[in-house]
Amino acid sequence: MEKQREQWGSKIGFILAAAGSAVGLGNIWKYPYLVGENGGAAFILVYLICVLLVGLPIAVAEILIGRTAQQNPVGSFRILTNGNRFWMGIGLLGVLAGFIILSYYNVIAGWSLGYVIQSIGGRFESMIHPQQAGEMFSCLSASTGWCVGYHLLFMALTVGIIYAGVTKGIERASKVLMPLLFLLIVVLVIRGITLPGARPGIRYLLKADFSAITADAVLLALGQAFFSLSLGMGALLTYGSYMSRRENIITSTSWIVGLDTLIALLAGFMIFPALFAMGLEPAQGPALIFNMLPVLFNDIPGGYFFRILFFILLALAALTSTISLLEVITSFLVDEYHFRRHRVAVIMGGLIALFGIPSALSFGAWSEIRIAGKTFFDLSDFIAANILLPVGGLCIALFVGWFWRSGSVKTELLTGTQTLPVWISGLWIFLIRFIAPVLVLIIFLQKIGIL
Ligand code: TRP
Repeated sequence: MEKQREQWGSKIGFILAAAGSAVGLGNIWKYPYLVGENGGAAFILVYLICVLLVGLPIAVAEILIGRTAQQNPVGSFRILTNGNRFWMGIGLLGVLAGFIILSYYNVIAGWSLGYVIQSIGGRFESMIHPQQAGEMFSCLSASTGWCVGYHLLFMALTVGIIYAGVTKGIERASKVLMPLLFLLIVVLVIRGITLPGARPGIRYLLKADFSAITADAVLLALGQAFFSLSLGMGALLTYGSYMSRRENIITSTSWIVGLDTLIALLAGFMIFPALFAMGLEPAQGPALIFNMLPVLFNDIPGGYFFRILFFILLALAALTSTISLLEVITSFLVDEYHFRRHRVAVIMGGLIALFGIPSALSFGAWSEIRIAGKTFFDLSDFIAANILLPVGGLCIALFVGWFWRSGSVKTELLTGTQTLPVWISGLWIFLIRFIAPVLVLIIFLQKIGIL
């Protein structure tokens, strides 16, 4: 006999685990540098609009599919479409996207772990100029042993948590990690905004200069909303499949989206006021936090301590995201092929780590190896984030908005939402049918260079 499918131990456990998937390097590493490169407050405003119009409705749709079918992405589409191969293929595309994203995301997660050790070792203590930290970053990210070592170590951590099972592993971990993460960010925000000279940084984040908003920036903001919320590949779908039907999807999802957005906004307040206080340029690109933060902390009383906290925080945030990526793949293989969870977690973790090694070497030994002008790292990121996620998200919106019988969509949505005003479900249906697909289509066409 099949064992009964595991479920989240509590409503808050689901919300924290899903928020843990969403909150990660996307919020703390990528969001600040995108804000820094696109002029600050105005970009943030556009990002927030994208989260509301695209992110929230598609997140509800994904969780709804998962909760209704109680299956992995492929199995969910099989159940809801009576085995339609096209839609099952979309589910499979999500699993593939998870594989690719995890392979390179884990590399940066490994860096953050490495920076915890560097910080503990006091390697940044004597640095005065951000340039010195920049040189150290270039040196470390080019080192084969350092990159591959931490990459493998981080994968081992991820596998360990998946190994422990859904409710025991992810939920227990998230219950501890998420509030701790939030607390650490708040401490760092307070530290940042109380530094002398922080005011221009605060203004940078609050006073919108709309001349900075180009069509490109709008599309970047849309793409970031997608990535940051873990949308488009069935991660939220899988987490939704462990959810009880008694729960209110709209309020749970709003919490997840709200927490993810709040943490991104806080990450901005953690970095820019301090950065301006140091008189540094905001447009630092992807190296922003690795180049800047180690030195910024030297200007802060207790900087040694705060720096260690920050990189622990970053590693924890990345860990709750890598867990969700591996869980999608694991639940697919466990549900579809009845493999053992423990074995799948170890074997897939190993394969993904192996597949990620070229990405880990992309900043050093293999930086000259290019495919279509891109390093392995850039290519993986391009294929996964710029092609697979937008296609997946668009299909999820189209499926729920147009192909799933609208009677059952409404019934399923309303299950567990007795107290919800009618106009909210009506608004959601409008967004998922019209607004979200059109906007996602625009992101996708822009990213592959047609628009
Ligand atoms: N959202 C995570 C972040 O912001 C990354 C992530 C985890 C993700 N799971 C995902 C992105 C699934 C896309 C799809 O760091």
